[in-house]
Amino acid sequence: MKDYVLFEKVTKHYQVGEQTIAATDNVSFSIEEGEFCVIVGPSGAGKTTVLNMLGGMDSCDSGTIRLDGRDISGLNEKQLTDYRRHDVGFVFQFYNLVQNLTAVENVELASEICRNPQDAKEVLAQVGLSERMLNFPAQLSGGEQQRVSIARALAKNPKILLCDEPTGALDYNTGKNILQLLQDTCRQTGKTVIVITHNLAITQMADRVIHFKNGAVSKMIINSTPVPVERIEW
Ligand SMILES: Nc1ncnc2c1ncn2[C@@H]1O[C@H](COP(=O)(O)OP(=O)(O)OP(=O)(O)O)[C@@H](O)[C@H]1O
Ligand SMILES: [Mg+2]
Repeated sequence: MKDYVLFEKVTKHYQVGEQTIAATDNVSFSIEEGEFCVIVGPSGAGKTTVLNMLGGMDSCDSGTIRLDGRDISGLNEKQLTDYRRHDVGFVFQFYNLVQNLTAVENVELASEICRNPQDAKEVLAQVGLSERMLNFPAQLSGGEQQRVSIARALAKNPKILLCDEPTGALDYNTGKNILQLLQDTCRQTGKTVIVITHNLAITQMADRVIHFKNGAVSKMIINSTPVPVERIEW
């Protein structure tokens, strides 16, 4: 299979006062289409930096980043806006929902700016929220709010789903349910899903595990028999 996500010698430095920090240093890896990929590593290892560059929210200093054959690292601002809007879906640790809009309005907000959106109500039903569409975020549990944010990402019909610590704010069982939903989404829609986590136990559920350390890939593992999340305990 061809590489769907490709990083080739990607370096990113941040300048803080006099100090230069190498957030990523010569990072190379690839991910195939439709894979459930988990990125793990200690705090400060460069995980978020990698996801933000792939999502078109941050640029790299050198190297090449490709998604589905397209060179992301060479896009200008306008092309990047278009790319973020149409090609990538994001899920964040703290949901980032608009508080004065209902669940369905939050999803419509995203689908309205897209070329080929899915119906907001249908996607909310897919994530198990058909009874909660008219609730405001404050009237939803953390797990339900994360479901809304997954629905919002999916409604755009993106090529890839990028999730940065999606269970970081959730309790054990709710977090497991969200991971299950992400894995089911990957299997049922064929979309490529990347999940960042601190939790090594979660790596068992992935097709591919990329370990980061000090701004570099320390290890990459292909898992031919991923375990359903309900069978993993931690
Ligand atoms: N905007 C920024 N300005 C300056 N330094 C930054 C910035 N973003 C990240 N860094 C630095 O780059 C390095 C990698 O950060 P990154 O956020 O990618 O780590 P991470 O692996 O996601 O960590 P965590 O698990 O804590 O979220 C860290 O040393 C961090 O301090
Ligand atoms: Mg991070």
